[in-house]
Amino acid sequence: MDYKEYIRVIPDFPQPGISFKDITTLLQNGEMYKNAINELKKMVSALKIDVIAGPEARGFVVGAPLAYALGVGFAPIRKSGKLPYETIEVGYDLEYGKDRLAMHTDAIQKGQNVLIADDLLATGGTISTSVDLVQQLGGNVVGAAFLIELSALNGRAKLPGVEVFSLMTYED
Ligand code: PRP
Ligand code: MG
Repeated sequence: MDYKEYIRVIPDFPQPGISFKDITTLLQNGEMYKNAINELKKMVSALKIDVIAGPEARGFVVGAPLAYALGVGFAPIRKSGKLPYETIEVGYDLEYGKDRLAMHTDAIQKGQNVLIADDLLATGGTISTSVDLVQQLGGNVVGAAFLIELSALNGRAKLPGVEVFSLMTYED
């Protein structure tokens, strides 16, 4: 199935030189959204997963349905200041900007196998920060799953020892 047909590419958004991969055109197609999540489910089927962790906002639209499909829990990774209970936080650089990500201290139990899910792997900043948070909580990161990987930005290099699964790969 050619999932790329359902991705809208917007040149120079949000900054000149960035080729934005818009997943909303995939999400609005119920059949293709379901196919994409089921395909990711197949890709990670060999892993033993206790919980999925996904960074807001776009990581929720991939991670939560994947958790539901696998019958496991979902742990939100949120931007600083959003989570109401005790948190840990890690700062990170984005493809375009800086931010901080946080998780509740009880979001992951020590020794749980965690799959991290997001819409897109670009520089890897978001996911390496997510890996850091999960590991600080005692989780065992068994893999990272994405709808899209931007291979030229080599985000994989920031994820040593983490098995990476992506449904689509773009060169730019
Ligand atoms: C985007 C995207 C990924 C991240 C990828 O999120 O959803 O999470 O950037 O880039 P990286 O690999 O270089 O870190 P963004 O921070 O724009 O926020 P959003 O998900 O809330 O839209
Ligand atoms: Mg994101």
